[in-house]
Amino acid sequence: MATRTTKRAQSTTRQPTRKATRPATRATRPPDAIALIKADHAAVNQLFRRYKELGDRAYASRKRIADRVIKELSVHAAIEEQILYPNARAALPNGKKLVGEAIDEHQELKETLVELDKCEPDDARFDELMKQVREEVRHHVREEEASEGILGQLRKHASRDDLVQMAKLMKTAKKAAPTRPHPNAPSTPPGNVIIGAAAAVVDKARDAMGGRK
Ligand SMILES: [Fe+2]
Repeated sequence: MATRTTKRAQSTTRQPTRKATRPATRATRPPDAIALIKADHAAVNQLFRRYKELGDRAYASRKRIADRVIKELSVHAAIEEQILYPNARAALPNGKKLVGEAIDEHQELKETLVELDKCEPDDARFDELMKQVREEVRHHVREEEASEGILGQLRKHASRDDLVQMAKLMKTAKKAAPTRPHPNAPSTPPGNVIIGAAAAVVDKARDAMGGRK
C-alpha cells in the first residue's frame, strides 16, 4: 500500500515536466481568426435550426431567438469590419475586391436585420424576414469560407501568428461591439471603430432595458 502511494506521488510530481515538453495539440493551440469566424457562423446556424423547430404560435421563443440572431450577427459584422476585413484587404492579392463585395452584402444584411428588429413575432412578415436573414447569412458563409473567399485566401496567405493575433483582437473587439444593426454607420476604420463603440453603449443600455440577453 505504502509503495503504491509513493509511486502515485512520484507520478504526480513528474507530470508538469511531461506537460511542459509536450507539443501543443489542436485542442490546446490558441484559436486563430479563421476558427473564431467559423465558430460564429456555426453558432448562428444553430440558432436558425432552433427557430425552425418552433411551432407557429411560439411567439415568445421566436422573438427570443430572433433577438439572439440580431445580436450575434451585429457583433459578428462589427468584428469582421473592424479587424478581419482591413487585414484581408491589406494581405490578399484580391483583397480589395473580396472585401468590397463582403461589405456590400453586410449592408444588405444589416438592413434586413433592422426590419426584423422592428417586426412583431405575430406579424406574418416576421417569418419571411427570418428566412431572408437565413438566406443572406447562408450566402455570406458560403462565400467567406470558400477556398477563393476571404477565409480560404487568408489561410493561404497569412501566417499562423498573424491569424492568432487577429483572433485576440477580435475577442477584445467583441466586448465593445454594437449588438444591434446600424446600416447608416461607417463600415470601415477608423469610423466604424469610433461610431461602433458609441453605438455599442446605447445598444447595451437598450438591451438591458428591454430584457434582451
Ligand atoms: Fe462572417
